Amino acid sequence: MKTIYLKVNADSLDDKVIEQAALIIKQGDLVAFPTDTVYGLGADALNETAVQKIFAAKGRPQDNPLILLVSSWEQACDYVRDIPDEAHALVEKFWPGPLTLVLPARETVPDIIRAGLAQVGVRMPSHKAALALIEKAGVPLAAPSANVSGRPSPTSAEHVKYDLDGRIAAILDGGSTRLGIESTLLDMTSQPYRILRSGAITIEDLEQSIPGKVIKADNEAPAAKLAHYQPRVKIIPFASNDEMSESMARRYGAKLGLVTLSEPTVFPNVEWHLVISGGVSEYGQRLFDIFRTADQHQIEYLFMELPESKELGQAVADRIKQAAGS
Ligand code: TXA
Ligand code: MG
Repeated sequence: MKTIYLKVNADSLDDKVIEQAALIIKQGDLVAFPTDTVYGLGADALNETAVQKIFAAKGRPQDNPLILLVSSWEQACDYVRDIPDEAHALVEKFWPGPLTLVLPARETVPDIIRAGLAQVGVRMPSHKAALALIEKAGVPLAAPSANVSGRPSPTSAEHVKYDLDGRIAAILDGGSTRLGIESTLLDMTSQPYRILRSGAITIEDLEQSIPGKVIKADNEAPAAKLAHYQPRVKIIPFASNDEMSESMARRYGAKLGLVTLSEPTVFPNVEWHLVISGGVSEYGQRLFDIFRTADQHQIEYLFMELPESKELGQAVADRIKQAAGS
């Protein structure tokens, strides 16, 4: 299959491009597109044959459920039921945005989407091209991250191309995504509500809106499926310079990379050094590109400074630790 590439500019949308992409979706094929978090791989969620293509293109196990991207809360309500009041409050506050709510599914959600589970995740992305595409297609989109399973989520059209060129019908290129890490995933099917995956909507944000109702899930059961990307490079997270120096000394002679949040003392053995001067939001935005670039540079060990595990730092630190396999 020859993948077609279409440019989109969220500030001045080209209706023709959106129409073309929506037509591909309606015909039952796959379109990758930018969202506020990462690139999604979209299919008509109500067309089982189309959804099947997502699993095939990504090499995704069938037992890993997909989320639905919608263009309004009203649309989401056609697919979820028994909605607690707190869900309304969160939608009011955080939609459109990087928050996926897992709620009891209606019969309208095909089995293949929810992998046989009784619940489904729904999200309204904050990205004009994504919203226009969903609206124009007239159906919710099944949309996991547009990477091959086991690779970091894509934050640019180049990342999607690297993974999926020739395997999907089209890629909408809207440049780098704003947040760079996947949405917060909140299970609202029972109380206390559990954060299955941290993201840009933090536990502190949720706590402010619905005090005392949210906990972070421990890393068991469903969350096991979340820890999936594994770069080739060995990631070594560190919290202090002393810890890093000591651990680095033991890797003397290997090809080393280093990512720090401030300008550190010079380490002569480091081949590739990145300083994240813009704090955790820049760290999140660049994180998956850093994993991919380190692999391209054939770095053997990548030392990554852990941000403090609070607010957005939690989501960044969680992903660094996941990638490190710890
Ligand atoms: O930011 C995002 O959420 C991106 C953009 C494209 O919207 N999408 C995304 O989808 O990250 P995906 O499929 O790569 O990650 C969704 C995660 C998966 O790990 C899946 O196991 C989990 O959500 N998930 C989906 N439905 C679920 C359900 N019903 N219950 C528990 N976990 C679920
Ligand atoms: Mg994914």
